[in-house]
Amino acid sequence: MSAVPEVLFGSVAPEHEDPRLLGRDVRRIAFDAATLRSRVIELGQEIHDAYPDGDLLVLGLLKGSFVFLADLVREIRRPLHVDFLVASSYGDATISSGEVRLVYDPETALEDKHILLVEDIVDSGRTLRKLLTLLEARAPQSIEICALLHKRIATELAHPVRFVGFDAPNEFLVGYGLDHAENFRHLPYVASLR
Ligand code: PRP
Repeated sequence: MSAVPEVLFGSVAPEHEDPRLLGRDVRRIAFDAATLRSRVIELGQEIHDAYPDGDLLVLGLLKGSFVFLADLVREIRRPLHVDFLVASSYGDATISSGEVRLVYDPETALEDKHILLVEDIVDSGRTLRKLLTLLEARAPQSIEICALLHKRIATELAHPVRFVGFDAPNEFLVGYGLDHAENFRHLPYVASLR
């Protein structure tokens, strides 16, 4: 019988026997489904309150943001549009140039719109730094970031993350969109793997 993992946020749940985990040992459930749900509702209200008028375009960065974004937009009770970004980095050799290539570029024009960029997790901040440079060049009216999880270790982020779900432990987190080798994105909670 496996040990019940330590729970960082939320109640102890039977997820340690979850067949979706492929037998992997969960170190702990960092954020259970109920905890995620209640914070996403709060974030929806915070975003609603922050945008009184104007065109709001919610841009989800794939793949990691897809679960969070789907839940989040249903809690933002105002008109908005949704689109996605798929980014590909040129690799370490070109990081200093800040280059990022968009494999999928949003079809909507960004000019004069309020852009809310949605991320699952901010780790080093490198992804966001490069994307923001690219998006700011398209003259949006405003650009803000909403991240479900923030490790607070980002040294490369000049633009503050305005909407944060939770400060996250510096552990290998999976679930609710986050993966390990493409597995575990469909977990309804966030767990850390051993
Ligand atoms: C992950 C995550 C963030 C980024 C955070 O994406 O979804 O986009 O890394 O890391 P950083 O702050 O150190 O840049 P990943 O490249 O694994 O792609 P995915 O979204 O398809 O999982």
